[in-house]
Amino acid sequence: MKKYNISVIGGDGTGPEVVDEALKVLEQTKSKFDIDFNFIMNDLGGDRYLKSGDLVTEADVVELGNSDSILLGAIGHPDVKPGILEQGILLKLRKEFDQYINLRPVVLYPGVETPLANKTPKDIDFVVVRENTEGLYAGAGGYIHYGTDKEVATQESINTRSAIQRCIEYAFEYTVKNNRKKITLCAKTNVLTYAHDLWERVFYEVAEKYPDIETDYGHVDAVCMWMVKNPEWFDVIVTDNMFGDIITDLGAMIQGGMGIAAGGNINPKGVSMCEPIGGSAPKYTGKNVINPLACIAAASMMLDVLGEDKYANKIENAVIKTAQKLDSLSAGKMGMGTSEVGDMVKDFILNDEE
Ligand code: IPM
Ligand code: MN
Repeated sequence: MKKYNISVIGGDGTGPEVVDEALKVLEQTKSKFDIDFNFIMNDLGGDRYLKSGDLVTEADVVELGNSDSILLGAIGHPDVKPGILEQGILLKLRKEFDQYINLRPVVLYPGVETPLANKTPKDIDFVVVRENTEGLYAGAGGYIHYGTDKEVATQESINTRSAIQRCIEYAFEYTVKNNRKKITLCAKTNVLTYAHDLWERVFYEVAEKYPDIETDYGHVDAVCMWMVKNPEWFDVIVTDNMFGDIITDLGAMIQGGMGIAAGGNINPKGVSMCEPIGGSAPKYTGKNVINPLACIAAASMMLDVLGEDKYANKIENAVIKTAQKLDSLSAGKMGMGTSEVGDMVKDFILNDEE
């Protein structure tokens, strides 16, 4: 039986609550099926930072680096100035473990409400492959004449051929492996005439190795428009870090909201980290009202990344069945509490006929 060491970061706000529900489901999966997990709890996050000043310590890096995967709840604390935890923890971990892909499925599950009129699950079913290490997130820039009238601030988008290439190659391989048919490059070649020209050239170079996959191109502004008007046009979208950040929040909304949206920070040969993408939602903390399905879906994605697609699918199916039973996917409107939703997913696993 395969045994995985999973580092678990509950993090801030509602993060620990939703992670608890995901662990409940993983425990049930472990006791019912032929798979084993050892959970290593890590307390990094805003509370620890406020107490000790520590963001990601050397000891964290060693511990997380020795695990097979990381499950993350949320990072973001109302008492910490914006940017510190995001840069110092979330982006730091993505870079430290070279999690160069941010994989975000945008799938409308049956019975879930979308704000798009007349769209059904067959229309909203695509995946965004977001580059996750560079672009505007590289941290290149600075100030001149800080705080004066002459002040200048720069923040450059860094685009290396090697990082673009590994991202685009991942997107094509993902497309083949998941039996999808078409990849759309989402960029802005009409304005970012250097950076996105490079993306476009690499995209079509890689595409030559995959003659069976249809390729398409959309400027990011138009992609936003089509995601709302004709989401059925998309199958796999590959894009840079900043655009990927923006379009996946739009994606989360059309698939029914943050309550269901999961993402994976993936290093295909290293330690990946899956997370619900909704953030720490501090105002709901401790109220048993937040939707844990996104975090449970993140746990399913984690198993998929570990190569355990059979069990990943079981958890995903249990999430789909549970989503159909909720009044709404939004916090406080589900018709049941956080832990009841977790119990329901767990019971679907318990009663799963192999
Ligand atoms: C996300 C988040 C992060 C990002 C923030 C919190 C740094 O919005 O995972 O999409 O911009 O990548
Ligand atoms: Mn984001």
